[in-house]
Amino acid sequence: MGCTIVGCGKAAPSLVVTNDDIAHLVDTDNEWIVQRTGIRCRRIAQGESTTDLAVAAAEAALGIETDGPVGKSGWRCAHQGAAPLDPSSIDLIICMTISPDATMPSQAALVRQRLGATDAVCFDLNAACSGCVYGLSVAESMMAAANATRSCTRNPVKRALVIGAERLSRVVDWTDRTTCILFGDGAGAILLEWSDAPLGILSTFLKNTDDTDGHLTLGAAHGANPSPPFPIETPEARLSRAARQTDVLADAADSRRNASATPESGLDPEGFSPYIAMNGQAVFRFAAAAVVEAVEEACARAGVSVDDIDLIVPHQANERIIRYAAKKLGLPIERFQLSINASANTSAASALMALTDALAQGKLRAGDTAVMVGFGGGLTAGSVLFQL
Ligand code: ACO
Repeated sequence: MGCTIVGCGKAAPSLVVTNDDIAHLVDTDNEWIVQRTGIRCRRIAQGESTTDLAVAAAEAALGIETDGPVGKSGWRCAHQGAAPLDPSSIDLIICMTISPDATMPSQAALVRQRLGATDAVCFDLNAACSGCVYGLSVAESMMAAANATRSCTRNPVKRALVIGAERLSRVVDWTDRTTCILFGDGAGAILLEWSDAPLGILSTFLKNTDDTDGHLTLGAAHGANPSPPFPIETPEARLSRAARQTDVLADAADSRRNASATPESGLDPEGFSPYIAMNGQAVFRFAAAAVVEAVEEACARAGVSVDDIDLIVPHQANERIIRYAAKKLGLPIERFQLSINASANTSAASALMALTDALAQGKLRAGDTAVMVGFGGGLTAGSVLFQL
């Protein structure tokens, strides 16, 4: 009995933005970007929302054909057959994103509604670029619990959709050459089914490390007070303030209304940066070590040798990180899926999109063993080892 991967899909906006296009925006060039990252182009949303991308990827995983502005492709395991799967048969939707269309309702709720997944329980999960492995791990745990003994004490979860969807172009500072070259928009989805087959997810590994120096942030407070706009008070002062509460609230509202954005600092009126900010070198060092550890841990937990892994599907942040990991693990680079050249870093979506690419390219086949790896903001890292 286990949690098997029975479908996956990816979706991307139609607009292709090349490195040369970005060189018109900031002081950079194609050669630098290709050499330092492996990225040649990325897809950028014009009208497409995160929901559009997420729904298209989910439909591809379910085998649902629809016409729309978002290009999509998918793979389904042989026993699913050609017929599209009814979204109302899905019990759980987890959506991983750092660029949702709204904070409330959740991105997953928007997807559920559009898909017509009328019986699904759904929620968002934010583990930044590690989203795919955290989402898969949580879904697998919920399925295992729901299908264990005393399962009547839990929501039934026989079929789950795990979706990573990002419209990062909305949260990228297009004047910052150290970050804007790295990111793209897109979505990936995996359809999981609880089955009798001894295949599927065989181990998971999740790890967090404090990002004490704020090496990788989005929407973080910089300088200004991130707490509600009241003065910091002693308990006595707080009591006396209770009497004039109405005035304080009115003052706070006025000061918010009167505050103006400071575009030169990139901060909104309350001091939060709306953009991804990154210390590239520090994150690079963290990521390179994290990939190696995540692959080794997933293998150790499943009792599988690293040499027996057919394909490693890592988060696509930088080709150099993947090449470093291959060298450290003593594996040929052909054993890693590289999709970054055409998609760039799509955060929570990237490894799911790369998995769909690997299946389309025949690099992964039924019966193969693979490890998905995530790393990113938090700092988060992790891996999921599965047999297809
Ligand atoms: N074009 C041209 N030159 C540039 C650019 C650019 N786009 N960006 C930086 N440079 C310059 C720098 O100013 C610097 O110049 P200097 O030597 O005169 O000071 C020089 O290039 C080297 O800069 P580095 O920062 O040392 O370049 P590095 O080789 O480290 O590459 C990069 C930068 C690509 C960002 C790399 O550090 C990286 O990939 N880091 C990890 C990113 C990552 O893994 N993110 C994952 C998580 S993302 C998420 O979770 C949302």
